[in-house]
Amino acid sequence: MDVIHLKGGLPLHGRVAAGGAKNAALPIFAATLLTDEPVTIENVPDLSDIRFMAQILEHLGASVERKDAHSWVIQAASVESLAPYELVRKMRASVCLMGPLLGRLREAVVSYPGGCVIGPRPIDLHLKGFARLGCRVEVRGGYVHLDGQDLHGEAVFLGGRHGSTALGTANVLMAAVLAPGVTRIESAACEPEIVDLCHLLQAMGAKIEGVGGHALRIEGVEKLHGCTHRIIPDRIEAGTFLLAAAITQGDVTVAGARRQDLASLVDKLAEAGADLSFPDEDTIRLRAHGRAFNPVDVITLPHPGFATDLQAQMCALMTLAPGLSIVTERVFPNRFMHVPELQRMGADIAIEGASAIIKGRPALSGAPVMASDLRASAALVLAGLAARGETWIQRIYHLDRGYERIDRKLIPLGAEIERLPESAMPKELIGEEA
Ligand code: EPZ
Repeated sequence: MDVIHLKGGLPLHGRVAAGGAKNAALPIFAATLLTDEPVTIENVPDLSDIRFMAQILEHLGASVERKDAHSWVIQAASVESLAPYELVRKMRASVCLMGPLLGRLREAVVSYPGGCVIGPRPIDLHLKGFARLGCRVEVRGGYVHLDGQDLHGEAVFLGGRHGSTALGTANVLMAAVLAPGVTRIESAACEPEIVDLCHLLQAMGAKIEGVGGHALRIEGVEKLHGCTHRIIPDRIEAGTFLLAAAITQGDVTVAGARRQDLASLVDKLAEAGADLSFPDEDTIRLRAHGRAFNPVDVITLPHPGFATDLQAQMCALMTLAPGLSIVTERVFPNRFMHVPELQRMGADIAIEGASAIIKGRPALSGAPVMASDLRASAALVLAGLAARGETWIQRIYHLDRGYERIDRKLIPLGAEIERLPESAMPKELIGEEA
């Protein structure tokens, strides 16, 4: 296993580009099962999760051809309906295979996804949606058995106790596009990644209205055809780079940072004192002018609220903002795996329920730390970039799930960061396996 080694304290300067959005690419890969024609997908990030989803599609019978690092052609001429445990358990997002399998085959048997480090990952809203569309839903032997012989359009309310569900919306949407009749999804998620999925489905011939809002109207069609689709830029990767510029008090221009997708982060960074400019709709420049940031209060919410996937990275920035910041997690209330590791680096953070109370310190100090979930790992990279001294991050396979060689993207900005085999890490620093 590799580790990341950083020497902190260097302001970042220059230009970096975000790649394609992981959370758009995953449901879009699943959507290729909805047609027997080839679908070409471009600007796909080169990530372990993507390669894994491609493996699952092949297992289900699709032909999967990788044209280059960021382009794929997928053709599901014939499809199996069983997505087995040994594959699904490794990536929760494979839950979004249920919808396309139901749409295409009128049946699906998909392993019930497990939880993960950010907390329980229920799928009750997904299953409620399928049941509303006339499916028989049975959980048996750790698998979800879906019988969609009577699949038909209906009105479905998908709001849950934490608001809308991104993959739940994607799942029901992908069943509805081939369901006879009209489906209305109320309290639909309107994350940019779901909008991108809608655009792909429309390019395949689906009839969807209300794209980008919380109410979608889908008129089922007989068949969908192939198309070519370019994935939108990854707003979370772009936001992570903006926060890297901020925490190192640098001056960085991020391409692929679509202002419309990052409005809540832009609002909070401006409130914290960042100097932000917008060379164009897809580019944001952040200058810190060597100043520390003001403490701000953040509450994560479904889009267009502050993204939960940027919460850990924002916490890292606030550890250096003189004063008191409160970061409240309304989407995944337990999503604070980054906090104990940031505390190892000298951060003053207390967790009270679903909130992190952060007292800004003058500096963080480098330390050996452990990556845990994908975005907590990104927060540790940011902290290591700003900390005095050296930081070693273990278990960076978590990072590889959502960031395409983040070290190679940060080095041209002046970061002293390197990816090394674990054997290069001083023995006395290697953390014990949990
Ligand atoms: C997607 O997960 C993303 N993953 C997550 O990104 C992201 O954090 C999340 O949306 C929220 O934006 C992918 O797109 C692959 P949800 P998803 O259903 O769809 C509750 C990352 O770091 N809920 O929108 O699984 C749920 O527990 C990952 O890239 C139910 O109660 O999240 C949560 O509290 C992490 N019942 C809230 O809704 C359900 O049936 C939002 O979850 C479904 C969800």
